[in-house]
Amino acid sequence: MSSRLARLLKELETSLTYAPVADKVSGSVLIRGFKLRDLRHLRQLYLDLNPSGSLSLARFLWGVIGYQRLLIVAEDIRTASLVGLDLFYFNPRDLQESTVHEGFVGVVSAYRGQGLATEMRIAAKRHFQRNGLTGISTRIAQDNKASLTSALKLGFEIVETQHSAADGESHYMVCKLGESK
Ligand SMILES: CC(C)(COP(=O)(O)OP(=O)(O)OC[C@H]1O[C@@H](n2cnc3c(N)ncnc32)[C@H](O)[C@@H]1OP(=O)(O)O)[C@@H](O)C(=O)NCCC(=O)NCCS
Repeated sequence: MSSRLARLLKELETSLTYAPVADKVSGSVLIRGFKLRDLRHLRQLYLDLNPSGSLSLARFLWGVIGYQRLLIVAEDIRTASLVGLDLFYFNPRDLQESTVHEGFVGVVSAYRGQGLATEMRIAAKRHFQRNGLTGISTRIAQDNKASLTSALKLGFEIVETQHSAADGESHYMVCKLGESK
């Protein structure tokens, strides 16, 4: 089976068998799983927060099947607007290692520095541990101090550091869920 097909089937399995993301209120912000009603705003939020990222419409629409179990959002309860997202998917390495990959975490600039990325990652750890995964992988640029600080605080460990012309130094990190802090 091709790795692409294996990943898409894993997303389908995830959407059918995983328990939903549990809600958590943090101040005026609700941390929760993605819902179909978020669809319209979510892709724009992703593209705003990650202008260099690529998320084709076709990939996005397929992803919607799994996103209900693979995407955590932060919603300002007062305005009912999405102010952050933490998006997961499975890379071939994750399928082998029973982990899930944090593809992108982002918080709207006015809401940064309030612990929201950390809260979404805590929710992700609980969610994926509850659903039987052994860890969460992520890749973080060495100069992204905010993301690194949050990840290290939550128990992500650097597995390897790579260099690419486009991104410079980046760390491949894994947070083992059996040893959740
Ligand atoms: C990275 C990002 C998601 C962090 O969101 P956030 O909600 O502000 O993060 P948190 O408040 O949960 O945690 C950030 C931590 O980094 C610290 N921090 C922030 N800037 C820092 C800096 N320049 N140097 C060191 N630490 C820094 C904060 O103090 C905080 O630590 P603390 O909780 O111990 O005080 C947000 O900055 C963002 O959306 N950036 C653009 C997209 C991006 O780079 N995503 C990450 C891709 S891997």
